[in-house]
Amino acid sequence: MYNDIQRVLITKEELKERVETLGKTITEDYKDTRPLMLGVLNGSFVFFADLLRAIPMQVDTHFIKISSYGAKTQSTGEVSLKTPLDFDVLGKDVVIVEDIIDSGNSMNFLKSLIEKNGARTVKICALLDKPSRRVVDVKVDYVGFSIPDEFIVGYGLDYAQSYRNLPEICVLKPEIFSK
Ligand code: IMP
Ligand code: MG
Repeated sequence: MYNDIQRVLITKEELKERVETLGKTITEDYKDTRPLMLGVLNGSFVFFADLLRAIPMQVDTHFIKISSYGAKTQSTGEVSLKTPLDFDVLGKDVVIVEDIIDSGNSMNFLKSLIEKNGARTVKICALLDKPSRRVVDVKVDYVGFSIPDEFIVGYGLDYAQSYRNLPEICVLKPEIFSK
């Protein structure tokens, strides 16, 4: 697996420290309410699990699956729900937890969907942000790390469903995804 990796971009220790800080900030910001933490499948599952355990108060958790890249490294711009919105967001303070914001299409779609369904507030927490790739404007309320325009894997993020189990965020060798 490590043969396909060009370099480590964010170490385990850096991830741990940053996720703990994000957890503290969210805990403070939501201390007067009970937020609904919404994990976006598949890529955010590792981040979501660590972030939740850095929030020592009562929260509700749900998952939602939206369309992603498939085996490609370019977004199509078309986003769709892969699981139904089978939980109530009416009047709730929702925190969407995403792995990475790239074009912004996915979060633009999901945030307006949750708003349309009557959430009281909707914020976005993303582990990673590639601001140089943005196509649509979307406000990211909590960001772990801003990163350059390179295709990365690990800590839940995949290429063609592989590399999710890498404990650090790594840059994939370009020849792996240009094959
Ligand atoms: P957006 O809709 O273009 O913002 O796409 C965001 C989604 O694309 C993320 O949730 C990821 O699933 C995927 N993605 C974007 N960049 C990367 C990357 O560098 N590695 C792995 N997945 C990525
Ligand atoms: Mg994703």
